[in-house]
Amino acid sequence: MRNKRNELNEKEKINKKIAFILALVCIFLIFIDFLIITLIFSWTDWVALLIFSLLFIVPAYLANAGMVLIGGGKPVDGGKNFIDGRRILGPGKTWKGLIRGPLLIGIPISAAISLLFIVLWGVIEPIPSEGIANGVYKYYNSMIYYRYYFIGGRPDDNLIFGYLTIIIRIFLCAYGAAFGDLIGSFIKRRLNVSRGNPLWIIDQLDFAMFAMIMASIPSFILPEIFLPLDILIISFLLILTPSVAILANTIAYLIGLKKIPW
Ligand code: CTP
Ligand code: MG
Repeated sequence: MRNKRNELNEKEKINKKIAFILALVCIFLIFIDFLIITLIFSWTDWVALLIFSLLFIVPAYLANAGMVLIGGGKPVDGGKNFIDGRRILGPGKTWKGLIRGPLLIGIPISAAISLLFIVLWGVIEPIPSEGIANGVYKYYNSMIYYRYYFIGGRPDDNLIFGYLTIIIRIFLCAYGAAFGDLIGSFIKRRLNVSRGNPLWIIDQLDFAMFAMIMASIPSFILPEIFLPLDILIISFLLILTPSVAILANTIAYLIGLKKIPW
């Protein structure tokens, strides 16, 4: 009994160390990303990239936090096992979390943030617009990007139409995150990682990767209206998200929402 508890503590210590190192490695990669973008384009492009990436992924981050906040109850897999004899998803994936995390937290908060940007657009718009006129951006040198990520639509679209496209993107991004999280747990159970035990990288990226995929669907169907995610944003989000996820989980652990800090 005593030995078992020591073993657990030992494991927990190692996992904390791994989480810390992974977060540091990602922060280092963000710094490298900044250097590369600054050398090839300009540092202002990197700032724009940071802002676009956050505007895009916030519904996924919020949905993910929402699932932890209001999850619990009936498991999505109904307690059933897969053909390998292990749980399909496990008890940590519940209907409440899956449906309500995006619906009550991810989507409404993101929609409110976008609404705020529409109200503030008159103040925001001159900043990139002057920057573009002065040639400070080498890559994001068209208002198409700024308009699309801040308030949706193309520069000449009406505001309501733009907001509608933002809502579609938010919806797909938030539910994409929720499904990605299920896929992550499915993979973990197949690899015999039990509920709550970490599977590094997959744990931190499953939701964001699937959010990017789902939210990109409209851009394959209607590329005239929905801007496809560019490789700069995709790669930036892949290195940003693990640090954010580890930070968020550590906070959730410290305030008692999660039993373990990863
Ligand atoms: N949660 C939920 N429903 C979901 C997703 C998450 O209720 N669809 C809640 C659960 O209480 C879960 C917690 O959020 O324990 C943390 O989520 P996560 O870390 O993804 O789950 P784990 O318990 O670590 O399970 P797994 O090993 O499958 O990742
Ligand atoms: Mg987990």
